Amino acid sequence: MKIVVVGPGAIGCLVAALLAKTKEEVWLLDKESERAKFLDQHGIKIEGLANFEVKIPTTSDPQKIKTADIVIICVKSYDTKKAILHAKALIGDKTIILTLQNGLGNIELINEVLDDERTIGAVTNMGATKLVEGHIRYAGKGETIIGSLDGSIGVSLRDIRELFIRAGIQTRISRDIKSALWSKLIINVGINPLTALTRLPNGKLLVFEGTRLLMSQAVTEAVKVCRRKKIKLLFEDPLSKVEAVCEATATNISSMLQDVLRKKRTEIDAINGVIVRLGQELNVPVPVNSMLVSLVKTLEESYSYTVAEVK
Ligand code: PAF
Repeated sequence: MKIVVVGPGAIGCLVAALLAKTKEEVWLLDKESERAKFLDQHGIKIEGLANFEVKIPTTSDPQKIKTADIVIICVKSYDTKKAILHAKALIGDKTIILTLQNGLGNIELINEVLDDERTIGAVTNMGATKLVEGHIRYAGKGETIIGSLDGSIGVSLRDIRELFIRAGIQTRISRDIKSALWSKLIINVGINPLTALTRLPNGKLLVFEGTRLLMSQAVTEAVKVCRRKKIKLLFEDPLSKVEAVCEATATNISSMLQDVLRKKRTEIDAINGVIVRLGQELNVPVPVNSMLVSLVKTLEESYSYTVAEVK
């Protein structure tokens, strides 16, 4: 089976490395040719919950890989469209496409670009941090949930589950992937922007009155939007769930804080930005999410300022 992971970020490298252990043919596709060369030469090193090194053929040229059986999209949500267009040569009539990305709207966007309905959605609670290029800390073994938008369970879903389980990725199929995606979104809404703005690890958000208050307000607004959309969450008490995730991942540097520390664009649009857009559309007030989006965007736009310039 030929499997291509698109996007060698923390989750992309971790998934590719775990899949490579199944002895299937695994490739990494990168948009950046220099980084692809580096990863191709040096391989991937995993530490933490598993410790191993593996060589994975990595390229920026999809023509070298040709048609794949499974394509797993792991790029940042703002790069989805570009990544699919780049990966088009990998996608044949029978290729299974799985999105393992943060935020909402990725399945729909991929389907739109490919003009079909075959994309499988996934939510993962595995924790991974990129230490340096190709060197990943595997920090959490959470469950991965996969499913199709229409709730049907076909051969592709079963194949992915079987493959992931062989790779040691704890996986289950859901008939309601939207519920899983929204549940993860609520968690990211409450944690990611606050860690990015305060530079605190997840657990420390619970220590300060200010971050606790903003977390509760951002989550409450998001849950109202979610209820208006008649989405059923996987948990009864969303704020307690977000707090429990903060505790369970106390020392994690959230993905958004990792982006800010690297002065990279964040996924704020696909997380709190979605709540703001839908809130406005559905007439649900979302002032706290709106403020968090504005602040994170300001942070991104001011990466290059030096203190002297700000004065
Ligand atoms: O984006 C992240 O970092 C993770 O989804 C989570 C759950 C917030 C843990 O760090």
